[in-house]
Amino acid sequence: MRRSLVAGNWKMNGSRSQAQNLVGQILDQSSLLKAVDIVICPPSVLISQVIRQLEGTEIGVGGQNLGLHAEGPYTGEISGPMLQDQGCRFVIVGHSERRHLFGESDSVVAKKTAFAYSCGLRPIVCVGETLQERENGETFKVVERQLRAVLEATGINIFPEGIVAYEPVWAIGTGQTAAPHQAQEVHVFIRRLLEKQQVDVGTETRILYGGSVNNDNAGDLFTEEDIDGGLIGGASLKATDFLSICRAVTQSC
Ligand code: PGA
Repeated sequence: MRRSLVAGNWKMNGSRSQAQNLVGQILDQSSLLKAVDIVICPPSVLISQVIRQLEGTEIGVGGQNLGLHAEGPYTGEISGPMLQDQGCRFVIVGHSERRHLFGESDSVVAKKTAFAYSCGLRPIVCVGETLQERENGETFKVVERQLRAVLEATGINIFPEGIVAYEPVWAIGTGQTAAPHQAQEVHVFIRRLLEKQQVDVGTETRILYGGSVNNDNAGDLFTEEDIDGGLIGGASLKATDFLSICRAVTQSC
């Protein structure tokens, strides 16, 4: 039985006081944790503050990215061991904004995923097609290519600790979410790819959906059998929205 997971990706948003308020409101509803795993991925400068505030709770904290190296002359980069040292348990890898705005190739994403895992972090590996790719009928091909690159670098053994997030690029931050059946067919496809490598691992790995999830569409998305939770961007910045998405997951279990 896969336990649902909702991760909030704050992206480059939030001040210390906003973070304090947001986390405080999430903590007030921490009884939700009986039914769902919650992970918060703040910008790196807020990680230590958020971790301090969440100390002693089951809410996980993750980085939004990591560098390819453990340490050294890489100005502006943050390494896996640093995230781990701060108390992070998760890290998002291969988010489409990293792929498209910062030129991260499949092979860089694969190396980062392997490195994250070797640092004791649970990677949340993002895959997903652009609108053009979907319109060209290439959705499955693209998702398979992205996932295979990761599997070649890491092997199947990083799952089910690792998590996959299917995030169609055309749905991220656009308000245009995938229809539940559209998301579900890609989730099943991803699960079959993992199962082909090792059946039980494929069955146990959590596959999150991301892309304009909000409190109106979360319920329908999460009732799909292979959607095990969400990676939430915009709606994770408002406690009421984020918490109602968490509640929607618990209701669909
Ligand atoms: P969104 O972002 O929920 O704002 O579409 C999701 C993500 O980028 O992870």
